Amino acid sequence: MSMTVRRLSRAAAAGLVAAAALTAAAHSAEAADTLGSAAAGQGRYFGTAVAASHLGEADYAATLDREFSSVTPENEMKWDATEPSRGTFTFGSADRIVDHAQGQGMNVRGHTLVWHSQLPSWVGSLGAADLRTAMNDHIKGLMGHYKGEIHSWDVVNEAFQDGGSGARRSSPFQDKLGDGFIEEAFRTARAADPAAKLCYNDYNTDGVNAKSNAVYAMVKDFKSRGVPIDCVGFQSHFNSNSPVPADYRQNLQRFADLGVDVQITELDIEGSGSAQAADYTKVVEACLAVSRCTGLTVWGVTDKYSWRSSGTPLLFDGNYQEKPAYDAVLSALGGSGGPGEPGEPGTAACTATYTRTADWNSGYNGQVTITAGGEPISSWTATVTLPAQQSVSSLWNGTPTWNGNVMTVRPSWNGTLAAGASTSFGFTVAKNGSDAVPAVGTCTAS
Ligand code: G3I
Repeated sequence: MSMTVRRLSRAAAAGLVAAAALTAAAHSAEAADTLGSAAAGQGRYFGTAVAASHLGEADYAATLDREFSSVTPENEMKWDATEPSRGTFTFGSADRIVDHAQGQGMNVRGHTLVWHSQLPSWVGSLGAADLRTAMNDHIKGLMGHYKGEIHSWDVVNEAFQDGGSGARRSSPFQDKLGDGFIEEAFRTARAADPAAKLCYNDYNTDGVNAKSNAVYAMVKDFKSRGVPIDCVGFQSHFNSNSPVPADYRQNLQRFADLGVDVQITELDIEGSGSAQAADYTKVVEACLAVSRCTGLTVWGVTDKYSWRSSGTPLLFDGNYQEKPAYDAVLSALGGSGGPGEPGEPGTAACTATYTRTADWNSGYNGQVTITAGGEPISSWTATVTLPAQQSVSSLWNGTPTWNGNVMTVRPSWNGTLAAGASTSFGFTVAKNGSDAVPAVGTCTAS
């Protein structure tokens, strides 16, 4: 059987990786008035699922290019799209997305290598030995084509079933190869592109429950035996039947504590207005509170192309207008667009920026500078989220209150600021083994 995949990866052929990295650096240096730049200010990416068929639509491409720093092909890298018949790889639509993303300096998440859905029928009819070979060839073919170009791959997607059992889901892979198919897929993936982060991705694992416990046990086992896994994706498709769990942050943190990154991979939240905005805020704040939560991806640019065809779960409406959920996400990321923009007349506003002013083996000093916008302010509030292990031993020029590892700081004597004027508060942190950077959230003023 002949493989039509090019043996030379696209990146090696075109020398694109270095160029993309340079553009990415320029991207993150922009003012924090878009989702991508605000997230970059927090050391995270902010991505979206993208459909190749919409890239030619001017408003779609303009919104994508302006706001997002990462893309996930919504369907174009799935098995039915990339290997419709055995050994014949078709990369046209996926290449269009990757090329577009690289032109904009965006990361690409690869979605997905081994999944029970969107499988061409030939896969299901193979016997066990042949299926194992086909699975590994598929991983090698796809990852080889994009070698060096993919930030993270969803190596295995949705391998656990819903409900209380924590059992594996029936699929050709599970039924014919048994539990070991997941481990084999990850080992094959590591060899195919050692630079890519390798993720397990699933839904209804966002809070602590039987399904997430089963995934947790698998990741813990993989880490203890040296099976290569770098990240866990939490899809985060929320609606009234499946709301943002109260223990979302706690669940992300327990996975991070196993020694993997966590990523919000397919976020969308049914609803509208302030209620939807508040739910989006919860998700962003949870990610920012977990130092190993490295980025968020929403599952589409605009409500009009959401997979929830009758819903409005995204950040831009069908006319590409920013929704309240957009403003909430930008604000939670510490961005400065929309209502309340600093410098906008008639609005009390402030920004908060963080610097590390001293550093030693066991600790460091951090400083947050508060700057008033275009109006004088009489008070301000800023949040600082400490990485889990770290603790604050002293704080000056501010008054802190604590909720878990989130420190909310208000003025002590320095609340009143003229338009454009600054003050700062400082704090000393015990690292307790973690040198991670705290996340500074929204500054609000009155
Ligand atoms: O492209 C064809 C079109 O030619 C045809 O006329 C039309 C008729 O139904 O179908 C079109 O394909 C559809 C495709 O989306 C592109 O729009 C498929 O039918 C449809 O099944 C497919 O749905 C995708 C779904 O995965 C399939 O399982 C959604 O777009 C995609 O958003 C969704 O994404 C999944 C993630 O991969 C995994 N996690 C859950 C998430 C949401 O379901």
